[in-house]
Amino acid sequence: MNQPHEVFLSRLAKDPQYKVAFQQAFGSSDVTLRRVENALASFERTILSGNSAFDRYQFGGDKSALTPAQIRGLAIFTDAKKGNCTACHTIDTKYALFTDGKAHNIGVGAGDVGVFSDVGRFRQTGNEVDRGAFFTPTIRNVANTAPYMHDGSLKTLADVVDFYAGGGNSNASLDKEIRSINLSIKIEAIWWSFLNR
Ligand code: HEC
Repeated sequence: MNQPHEVFLSRLAKDPQYKVAFQQAFGSSDVTLRRVENALASFERTILSGNSAFDRYQFGGDKSALTPAQIRGLAIFTDAKKGNCTACHTIDTKYALFTDGKAHNIGVGAGDVGVFSDVGRFRQTGNEVDRGAFFTPTIRNVANTAPYMHDGSLKTLADVVDFYAGGGNSNASLDKEIRSINLSIKIEAIWWSFLNR
């Protein structure tokens, strides 16, 4: 939430709706950091997305679970010379989290002259290479979670595909795995149909 713990805790504590919700969930209306952490963790445990069409295709041996267009899209997604998406949105041999759990600079928020309004991971590490780097999010169920990127700057998945096809916004520490991709409109559409599964 881009603010110190004390600040958002006192904000939540002043909100009448949260008072009621904390009372119901924890038996008292006290807003503590531990309770906020517990509430977020409980929420996250409800976001399950196993056994998708992709999972059945990739891991369940059901080669008809994806449409032919989605299969072509997946091939672009995983091909290092085309989408190269799995360089960061990992598909493992037995499961797929669609994240490598690492921070990367893909140029979101770099602005026209490569200056970041939010320096991202750099704020924690102070390493120049981390300037403008953000953690790779999973892209499971991504069709349901617009808008996209840490700043919500991309409104649709089509915008995301356009962003990557353009090679991200250039800036001094752009990740080496991000490069512009020469995709025809048709291929973009197929690729998008995989993302939008
Ligand atoms: C170098 C690592 C890297 C590569 C390669 C990469 N991504 Fe990402 N992706 C990220 C990071 C980091 C973010 C989050 C950026 C942010 O929040 O500003 C992200 C965000 C996204 C999002 C938005 C998720 C959300 O919930 O906001 C989508 C969709 C996405 N990537 C799809 C793709 C596709 C499709 C490709 C292949 C063209 C790809 N990514 C290649 C690292 C990568």
